[in-house]
Amino acid sequence: MAGGRAVAALVLCARTATATNATWCSARNHRRLAGGCVHSIRPALPHAAAARLGSLLQRAWQQNSFLYATNCRRSGNACECGNKKMRMSTKDSAPAQAAAVYCRDKRGGFIYSKHELDRASTAHALLEKTVDALIRPRLEDAIGGPVANLTDWFASAFQSGGWLGIHTDVGLGHVAFVLNLTPDDNAFRGGDLEFAEGHVMGHAVSPKFNSLAAFRVGSGAHPLPHRVTAVDAPRESLPRLAITGWYTIPGADPRAVSPAILNAEKGRRTR
Ligand SMILES: *[C@@H]1O[C@H](CO)[C@@H](O)[C@H](O)[C@H]1NC(C)=O
Ligand SMILES: *[C@@H]1O[C@H](CO)[C@@H](O)[C@H](O)[C@H]1NC(C)=O
Repeated sequence: MAGGRAVAALVLCARTATATNATWCSARNHRRLAGGCVHSIRPALPHAAAARLGSLLQRAWQQNSFLYATNCRRSGNACECGNKKMRMSTKDSAPAQAAAVYCRDKRGGFIYSKHELDRASTAHALLEKTVDALIRPRLEDAIGGPVANLTDWFASAFQSGGWLGIHTDVGLGHVAFVLNLTPDDNAFRGGDLEFAEGHVMGHAVSPKFNSLAAFRVGSGAHPLPHRVTAVDAPRESLPRLAITGWYTIPGADPRAVSPAILNAEKGRRTR
């Protein structure tokens, strides 16, 4: 009987081998809710819901509903890479992509080269109706406490060669999340969400389908600088697709939310 149970347990293990939950905490600070920890859960959503979101993003990618985004401008040998996000259609983006790579290699730092779902697209409008309801309960499970308001979200696509340089998400909310939606059979490498520990990269979350990573950011939280490593995707493969956003936490420091930074992120004019 005991042997039979052991076999049954093994079979169960094999079947659930893709289900993983993990918490990694920076050695510098591991107060659970006040930050310093990265919580990941997989599967995050019911499979059908994740598959629906994934296909929506795939179709949007194929229909060119994503805009190229970078924060670098090159003139001659000079690079200007600030907090100003520039978005443009993919077909016009080759010079900007080359400039981003040039600037990264020349000066490094917070530079990105990626795509974002056009906030004016139909796919974005569809997602707008479901993102909060789908993600909120799983995010609360992941961090082990309640969240308040979704301050912003967007869908990202990291094309081959795309990356996101090291940054801390200041001003966007109290907790950041990333829900990965590229199917696992899609052949690409990289695209890891990596967290820095001092000057070394301390923890990497690979972008597995339907995995959710969450961590505290902003005022009152231990900063966790992070980046997305360069994606290496063969021709015709999908990019790294994900939905990213920020929530506030009840009672947490309101200074963690900056309307000016959020507006800049959304591409709205600020006065
Ligand atoms: C992962 O965490 C979720 C939410 O807390 C829980 O429902 C699920 O059972 C956990 N899965 C595993 C494999 O531990
Ligand atoms: C959530 O939003 C409501 C309505 O705008 C606001 O009154 C409240 O202070 C916000 N709470 C947090 C914790 O962000």
